Amino acid sequence: MAGCSSAATFKPMAETFALDLTQRPRRLRRTPALRAMVEETVLRPADFIAPLFVVDGKPAPEEIKSMPGQFRLNIADLVKECRAIHKLGVPAVALFPKLDPKLKDDEGTQALNEETLILRAVRAVKKAVPELAIITDVALDPYTSHGHDGVLTAARDDVENDRTVGLLARMAVLQARAGVDLVAPSDMMDGRVGAIRTALDAAGYTGTGILAYSVKYNSAYYGPFRDAVGSAQAAGTRLLSKATYQMNPANRREAIREAQLDAREGADMIMVKPAGAYLDIIREVRDATDRPIAAYQVSGEYAQIHAAARLGWLDLARTRHESLLAIKRAGADMILTYFAKEMAAGLKG
Ligand code: PBG
Repeated sequence: MAGCSSAATFKPMAETFALDLTQRPRRLRRTPALRAMVEETVLRPADFIAPLFVVDGKPAPEEIKSMPGQFRLNIADLVKECRAIHKLGVPAVALFPKLDPKLKDDEGTQALNEETLILRAVRAVKKAVPELAIITDVALDPYTSHGHDGVLTAARDDVENDRTVGLLARMAVLQARAGVDLVAPSDMMDGRVGAIRTALDAAGYTGTGILAYSVKYNSAYYGPFRDAVGSAQAAGTRLLSKATYQMNPANRREAIREAQLDAREGADMIMVKPAGAYLDIIREVRDATDRPIAAYQVSGEYAQIHAAARLGWLDLARTRHESLLAIKRAGADMILTYFAKEMAAGLKG
């Protein structure tokens, strides 16, 4: 065989063999000191935003099965957690309510109740830790019995875009009044950023910012979150899919269009979500707008890393760090991640 004959005649190279190279990139990787000097991306506690889940009437934190280490917290425990997170140098939290199913209805009525869970939570956290920035989702999915992000048409075959936006604008004003720093419309209805900006300004909340989920894909990676807030019904609703408002994962030009529209309508920051599978989109949106970019490392990304680590197939700490580093390197100015607290603790210590 031809392969065998060449192996038989192979002679090892002389020990003095040297390539005539002037460029040797490995020179700068030789020692930890040199590697530190040329490191291009560095994670710091201020890069992170911690998403937290709040629930009413549970005496103890409930762990979310598909999100190890993440809990549904009652307001008292939420306040404690926010204090701890703030001490570690994380500048902001994003709060999500898990509503009692009995309070949900087709119209998401509870979203406009001044005493609804999320507003009580915001007031409590703001009072206890005023320096911590609070972000709240403006979307109806935690409040609707069908789990969609908007109110439905009579035929229940579509979300009524404009009527939904009207509700979102009122919801945002209530959140601003409760003291949030940034409202985060996350439903992907058309025109909501402009409507929310107008409503906030008219109510005197000119200083409340908008973090727009501008580029939110219809993603399988939201699975564990839907368990966490109990909005799983919508994913499989027979007549209506979230694909009618969330973006097709196949698209990139549309991402730029959405980001630019929201920037024009008054978004202060632009979000890309999910993050890890959309690094190209983060980079393109970064280059297409001058607004700060947030990326959301979503529940499924978190669950995936934990699951593999549990099986002993991935190293949790290293994978966690690398996943976040990649998101920042792609162009994110800040990252919403369920790893926020432990990352900040690790970077401080
Ligand atoms: C809904 C909302 C979702 C997430 C944040 N806000 C899920 C959805 O669209 O069903 C997902 C977050 C995550 O998966 O971590 N408005």
